[in-house]
Amino acid sequence: MSLSRVFVFLLCLPGLLLANERPPAAAIASAHPLASQAGMAILAQGGNAFDAAIAVSAVLAVVEPYGSGMGGGGFWLLHRASDGKDIMIDGRETAPLAAHRDMYLDAQGEVIPGLSMNGPLAAGIPGQAAALVHLAEHYARLPLRTSLAPAIQHAREGVAVGESYRRMAGFRLEALRAWPETAAIFLHNGEVPAAGHRLVQTDLAETLSRLAENGLDGFYRGDTAKAVLTAMERHGGIWSQADFDSYRIIEREPIRSHYQGHEIISAAPPSSGGVALATILHILAQFPLDELDEVARTHLLAEAMRRAYRDRAQYLGDTDFVEVPLERLSHPHYGAGLAAAIRLDRATPSSDLPGVAAAPGGTHTSHFSVLDSEGNYVAATLSINYPFGSGFVVPGTGLLLNNEMDDFSSRPGSPNAYGLVGAEANAIAPGKRMLSSMSPSFVRNPDSLVVLGTPGGSRIISMVLQGILAHIDGAPLEAWIGRPRVHHQYLPDKLYLEPDALDEETRLALIALGHQLEPLASPWGNMQALLWDKRTAQVSAASDPRGGGQALVIPNK
Ligand code: DON
Repeated sequence: MSLSRVFVFLLCLPGLLLANERPPAAAIASAHPLASQAGMAILAQGGNAFDAAIAVSAVLAVVEPYGSGMGGGGFWLLHRASDGKDIMIDGRETAPLAAHRDMYLDAQGEVIPGLSMNGPLAAGIPGQAAALVHLAEHYARLPLRTSLAPAIQHAREGVAVGESYRRMAGFRLEALRAWPETAAIFLHNGEVPAAGHRLVQTDLAETLSRLAENGLDGFYRGDTAKAVLTAMERHGGIWSQADFDSYRIIEREPIRSHYQGHEIISAAPPSSGGVALATILHILAQFPLDELDEVARTHLLAEAMRRAYRDRAQYLGDTDFVEVPLERLSHPHYGAGLAAAIRLDRATPSSDLPGVAAAPGGTHTSHFSVLDSEGNYVAATLSINYPFGSGFVVPGTGLLLNNEMDDFSSRPGSPNAYGLVGAEANAIAPGKRMLSSMSPSFVRNPDSLVVLGTPGGSRIISMVLQGILAHIDGAPLEAWIGRPRVHHQYLPDKLYLEPDALDEETRLALIALGHQLEPLASPWGNMQALLWDKRTAQVSAASDPRGGGQALVIPNK
């Protein structure tokens, strides 16, 4: 063997060793007990993590209809044990081919309120069905018929609605009442149903069955597609069969960054998550965080977030349509350069940064994490955007369409529902994917693996960041997942605090540094995370105490 071959072999060795490692248990954390249980049932039937991911995604679409769904999309970040491959399955929605840049503006160039939020015009072409087919064809082991069976059963037989459902339905009551089909499925006599009310979705069960039997043709062609296009025509939508024919799943290389001996693998554009995490971590790497007190640490966190969210607004968009300086933004030198301009003794007002132009998010959208006994794992964040998406159900299909079009910048500089502003890079164009904050992520080193993610709109990135930092600090999973979080997103220039985040003294010290604190009355996020501690050979899983999810760990037999 030549010297260079030996070298390549040695380089590959850690990857091969990693590929052969097997965890002592399988684990799933998701936002709903029925979804976690369905995933485990599929693993028990001989499925791998990718089969389980299909089952969990589809059950969430049924039992958590306010969060994600077959009328929406998402990102599935995969790790395959057999060859060590990490890959992001991009099932993000696309703008319809008849969409155009100014479609949400009036004659004066003003954003027409609600148009990108409610009804058929607010929806992007759904990617979740194609993503599940792609997973089944390329990564999973079982037929879709098997992995979709739990979702079909729950849709047909009905599930009891819980408190999260009631809260979200109350929040979106007006949008749900706007369409008779929607109200008939999701409300009871036009009102938020009582806890325990059975949500039966017979049409959705049939839509899922057509997908299970016929794959892509069962969704993007045939009865489902026909019903969708008829409804679009009737209710002012702009979709055509060409939108369905041209929709493609894209496999993307995830964004990788390194921090304190850990590799962070996260979502690539059209998500801004991986890039923003890289920038923030590279900034923080310039400071001895371990030696600093909470005031200095929180100050630096806010300053790093401010800068990364500013770049998000300025540069990020769908890389198939616009040039994004990914290399530069995710390079350690770039973070170091930004760090050099951070002062320890005062906050930088956002208005002092080169200008462009964000609001909060809660528990809609959905994240889940899966690890199987072979060492395959999946982090997936799925969305229909706002609670109950656009509120529009396609008659006869049970498909609740997303309102992901609001994630584009309808007009450069105008904030969307999360207060996020964007520039030209995220303007609407036919077939383009709207910018996302969804950040399914892995954190790896030879001793441990964490699989994590959360919903929360613009706050997803800062939540995932705080999870990563807490893990690297050595905090146990159960301890950090519930810890109150802070958030800064450049604009508005505010440091948001969850209830109980930071004591009074720390708050006052941050105000003295020039931060504008914005304590919020309700908590945010719904993180679902797994930890494989290789030193103790233990797997643990945790579901955010803020949500009603379930984390399961089942030791290998
Ligand atoms: O893709 C995005 O960034 C948003 N559509 C996610 C929305 C969300 O997380 C809502 N959550 N609470």
